[in-house]
Parts: sequence; structure tokens; C-alpha cells
Amino acid sequence: MARRKKIYEGKAKILYEGPEPGTIVQYFKDDATAFNAEKKATIEGKGVLNNRLSEFFMTGLTQIGVPNHFIKRLNMREQLVRAAEIIPLEVIVRNFAAGSLSKRLGIPEGEPLPRPIIEFCYKDDALGDPLVAEEHIIAFGWASQQDLDDIVSLALRVNDFMSGLMLGVGIKLVDFKIEIGRVWDNDYQRLLVADEISPDSCRLWDIETGQKLDKDVFRRDLGSLSDAYTEVARRLGVLPSNV
Ligand code: C5P
Repeated sequence: MARRKKIYEGKAKILYEGPEPGTIVQYFKDDATAFNAEKKATIEGKGVLNNRLSEFFMTGLTQIGVPNHFIKRLNMREQLVRAAEIIPLEVIVRNFAAGSLSKRLGIPEGEPLPRPIIEFCYKDDALGDPLVAEEHIIAFGWASQQDLDDIVSLALRVNDFMSGLMLGVGIKLVDFKIEIGRVWDNDYQRLLVADEISPDSCRLWDIETGQKLDKDVFRRDLGSLSDAYTEVARRLGVLPSNV
């Protein structure tokens, strides 16, 4: 097989040059990291599950008209996506208090928020992805005011879609993170949802029992991460046959 050009290797994924210009192959690794890679492990099968789950969520977003980078799944661990220039922000949407919000503001985990709260973190591993305000984003030119308005609108649409989807299978979408990419269509800039949507980047709690079905299982040593992700995939009907 011809060797492919590696573009980038991150903590959970590798990006290769795609077969057509403007495409990228996204390979999902089994590696799990937390606390800015201070905690690391290999979770067998995680890459396969996240590849399938991200495909499922992105395909659903396409069906309701939310632009995203997904083109097609290639195999168990790889998907073809549209190349996009990633805006260096982690866009976090929260429906219930948890994680860093609870720590920062002293709000107990699980408390419903008065409305979805959107936060931005500057994507920089060396700095630990610090929380930033719109002021910083505009002043440092990471995104324009128009981009930010579009990002908020995309994030809220993803939130409504994902919350409803999860509610249907007895799961509460506590919060999640997305990344946004820029693409150009005939000199016209468009923003789309990029990277991945998976239990690595969401907090998912069973509605009845509160059981955590996301990466907090790994972060907080709560049991088997692959069992948790398999349960999410099983409920959504996207369980790959050989995991
Ligand atoms: O840690 P924190 O409470 O800020 O995380 C909020 C949400 O964003 C969680 O669902 C978490 O999984 C996700 N997140 C992420 N990648 C990061 C930071 C947070 O996917 N680097």
C-alpha cells in the first residue's frame, strides 16, 4: 500500500492527506489522555467506537442542515473529511454544571443551568487551553465578530440536536466541546463543525441512574471506558459488529 503523508498527529487522532485535494483522512487512535496528557492509557477499541459515533452524529447534523466536515467513513478507524482551517478555539456548550465550570464557580455538578452557556478556550496545549473571552478572540484575530455569531449559532444547533438524540436513548447531555473549521467555496468563507463529536468530548449521564458514560470514566477512574462508550453506541444502534 502506498504510504500516505501524515499531516498531524494529535492525542486521539492522526490526520493524513486525503485522496482528493481538499480532503483529509482522519484516523481514530485507541489512546486516551486527560488533564492535558498528564494521564494516558490505551483503551482497546476506543478508536473504532469514536469513528462510528462521530460518523453517526455528523451524518445526523448533515441531515438537519448543520454544515460539518464529514464526507464518508472509510473503514473501522478512518473517515474522509473536508480539509478545513481549524479556528484555534474549543467551543464548549453546557446544559448542566460539571467539570471546570463547577470548580471555577462553585456550582454543584448536575445543577441545571438557566440557559445553555457557551465558553471558549484557546487551543494551546502548552498553556493548558485557557478560558478566553470574546474580547481576546476578536482582539487577537482568532475569529471575527461575524464568525463568533456564526459559531454560537452552530454550537446551539449542535446542542439542540445532540440533546434530543441523547434524551431519546435515556442519556442527559451535560456538556460538550466542538471545534469549528473554515472552508472556502468560490471565495466565500463558510464555517463548519470539524474534528469529532464523541464521548471523548461530551459529558453523558444516564438519565435514571446518573451513571457516567463519557471520558470522565477514565479521568476519574470510574471503571471501564470501553464499556461506557459501547453502551452509548449500543443505545444509539451504532454498535460496530466486531467490538
Ligand atoms: O473540563 P471541562 O468541564 O471544561 O469540559 C467541558 C466539556 O468539554 C466536557 O464535555 C469535556 O469532555 C470537553 N472537553 C474536551 N476537550 C478539552 C476540554 C474539554 O473535549 N480539551
